[in-house]
Amino acid sequence: MEELIIRGGRPLAGELRPQGAKNSVLPLLAASLLFTKGCTLHNCPHLSDVESAVEILKALGCKVAWEGRSISVDAGDLREDEIPEALMRTMRSSILFLGPLMARLGRCRLSQPGGCVLGKRPIDLHLSGLKTLGAEVTQKDGSVTCGGTLTGGTIALSYPSVGATENLILAALGAVGTTTIYNAAKEPEVGDLIGFLTAGGAKIYGRGTSMLQVEGGLPEGASYEVMPDRMETATYLSAVAGCGGEVLVRGAVAGYLEPVIHCFALAGCRFREEEQLLALQAPKRLNSTYPVRTGPYPAFPTDAQAPFMAAMLRADGVTVIEENIFADRYRHVPALRALGGDIRTQGTVAVIHGVEHLRGTYLEATDLRGGAAMAVGALQAQGESHLCRIEHILRGYEDFPGKLSALGAEIEIHK
Ligand code: EPZ
Repeated sequence: MEELIIRGGRPLAGELRPQGAKNSVLPLLAASLLFTKGCTLHNCPHLSDVESAVEILKALGCKVAWEGRSISVDAGDLREDEIPEALMRTMRSSILFLGPLMARLGRCRLSQPGGCVLGKRPIDLHLSGLKTLGAEVTQKDGSVTCGGTLTGGTIALSYPSVGATENLILAALGAVGTTTIYNAAKEPEVGDLIGFLTAGGAKIYGRGTSMLQVEGGLPEGASYEVMPDRMETATYLSAVAGCGGEVLVRGAVAGYLEPVIHCFALAGCRFREEEQLLALQAPKRLNSTYPVRTGPYPAFPTDAQAPFMAAMLRADGVTVIEENIFADRYRHVPALRALGGDIRTQGTVAVIHGVEHLRGTYLEATDLRGGAAMAVGALQAQGESHLCRIEHILRGYEDFPGKLSALGAEIEIHK
């Protein structure tokens, strides 16, 4: 079993370039099913979740070529309407193939998606939106069957779900007529999906707003660059903020990270933002900041909550965090306590009393961001930490130990 060995307690310094965004490339790969003349995505990160998405495309009958960081998809021979259960279970994003399959074939069979265990993760908004467009949906023994011809309609989401917004945009392109989605998610990754689809000629209006209009009609061909991964950058900013030191992130879009930047600035970090460049200088010890509440974009992102918490373990004072998106997203807390962190949780709230020192220990990653947060904690701890179950981390971070080593961290992977 692979594990990370981390010898912490030293400041970090260096330069980084973000990978292509995991949470963008996955919907973009699902969207590739819609392009009538094929498409190529550039800046694709080498991650196990991306491999799973490629396997799903192949299982559906697509031709996929992955060369370096570019993935070309030809969905001309799409014939299968069923996603194999084993592939559905590999990640939550497997559900994003539902909308495109309905758009292309008017039918789809799948089982419940897998993914990080963060509490209940229903797919009711995806399914009710499809029903509004005319799909017949049957759920039995954990499997979902959808069928029917889609017609444009008005969908009002009761919550701005990222995945449901993406799925419904994709389905609506195969509908006859125009679909309006109210209370759509405004996450930059939704914008990236719209950018990709419109590059292929799709007509989608309202990018970046909570009201989207999607005209039925499939995109043709496109060559598109995946946006930089804001959660990967937030994680490395957390590592440097927690350990002290400085980092220059080339190719980052600071605007996507404002809530995280703002909190670390209040905690004593200095930032320089230029186009495609973000520099952070962190003091030896952070101050606590005002309460941080996660929420849909542009609020503080839930995916940055765990690494941020880890960065605040040694901050001078008390930091309060409120997790409002997922019911069970404090699974990293016991591990951060094992490192010496003083964290008390009640319901959605976590209270962190900053301690002066952390000490290395044995840790087990519980989920993607939680695992990364444990590494951020271990990097600040005196002595050696062993972090196992790192397959969770590698689902979302390309060359995780390599990028931290480039910042001067003592971290190695043991097979
Ligand atoms: C996306 O998940 C991201 N994943 C998640 O990233 C991220 O945490 C999340 O958005 C929120 O920003 C990808 O983009 C691949 P949601 P998604 O639908 O689409 C509830 C990471 O660490 N909900 O916006 O699944 C749901 O239970 C990950 O990279 C319903 O109730 O998130 C949750 O409480 C993990 N019914 C809330 O909405 C539904 O039908 C937000 O979920 C759908 C969602």
